[in-house]
Amino acid sequence: MQNDLFLRALLRQPVPRTPVWMMRQAGRYLPEYRAVRKTVDFLTLCKTPDLATEVTIQPVDILGVDAAIIFSDILVVPEAMGMELIIEEGQGGPCFPSPLRTTGDIEALAVPDPGDRLKFVTDAIALTKRKLNGRVPLIGFCGSPWTLASYMVEGRGSRNFRHVKELIFDSPQAAHLLLEKIARAVSTYLNAQIAAGAQAVQIFDTWGGILSYDCFEEFSLRYIRQVIANLKPDHAPVIVFCKDCGHSLERIAASGCQAVGLDWSVNLGEARTRVGSAVALQGNMDPTILYARPDRIRTEVRSILKQFGTGTGHVFNLGHGILPDVPVEHAREFIRAVKEESPAYHN
Ligand code: CP3
Repeated sequence: MQNDLFLRALLRQPVPRTPVWMMRQAGRYLPEYRAVRKTVDFLTLCKTPDLATEVTIQPVDILGVDAAIIFSDILVVPEAMGMELIIEEGQGGPCFPSPLRTTGDIEALAVPDPGDRLKFVTDAIALTKRKLNGRVPLIGFCGSPWTLASYMVEGRGSRNFRHVKELIFDSPQAAHLLLEKIARAVSTYLNAQIAAGAQAVQIFDTWGGILSYDCFEEFSLRYIRQVIANLKPDHAPVIVFCKDCGHSLERIAASGCQAVGLDWSVNLGEARTRVGSAVALQGNMDPTILYARPDRIRTEVRSILKQFGTGTGHVFNLGHGILPDVPVEHAREFIRAVKEESPAYHN
């Protein structure tokens, strides 16, 4: 492995500078990605290993990030469990036209064998590993049981999450049945990604923050813990990213993960004090800073490095995915600034 800074920082081993990558780094802000997307729809791109590999490696070539994340989507798992998935072009976004509404719907879901229904992902991982040839580590990922359940019950992104909230408040037993089933699907899926060559995995809990403190524990974190506990011994490092869940940092850090992903609502220095030396931290620049001029981006990078302070255990990232209308030059300046400003914090 030529550049293993990311893996070393995750394991809190010494590094000469802070590694950096961006959530959603393969995506529409890159003209090279848009050129590939012109030729195929989004799901075909996910399911064609040659193309998925090509767009996975684009940000490594174009921006010089310190890790690649396999190109796919969290919603291919519900699809493999038996739900029809449509990704609408333009404003619509992803949609399940027949969302889960009854206990019968939940009972009918399959726990898929990833070697069968999700083989395109493990094939893309194996091919990407070969093409990367050790340049940077490759990250696999999945959605958290709670975040996947939210999409599966709502049918799409939502403002108030009425249907999934009705499920947890009025039919908690059915909710737990669903979450337990997704947790099983997701842990076998992560085990398959690691077996195929993923060197770290990230669990995205995009909607953890819509739950109260107690409900976050009961309906989200509990199942994230279950997913991690079901990984094979000596598994690759696990990053848990729960958006808007700064209230529960200590408990997320104790979930069995090796690193906690942070959104920009928390101070990185305070987060470090709260979790101690148990886990690494990943984050947490506001993605909209990338709209600002390059000098302002660099100032923000300096400020976040200073918040974390000296020593290893920090993977620089945005606090959520890069936005589709960010200028590529700004993304490039972000990566450059982390590489140039961070050696001062390591010895
Ligand atoms: O990070 C990467 O570069 C790897 C690829 C990746 C995608 N989705 C590609 C994608 C990853 C890690 C995801 C995760 C994902 N997908 C999450 C969790 C992370 C987060 O952002 O909170 C969620 C909630 C989804 C569900 C999803 N998929 C949404 C809400 C959308 C539409 C909104 C949007 O950003 O476009 C998608 C589609 C999607 N997934 C696109 C990409 C590049 C855009 C599709 C296109 O090319 O038209």
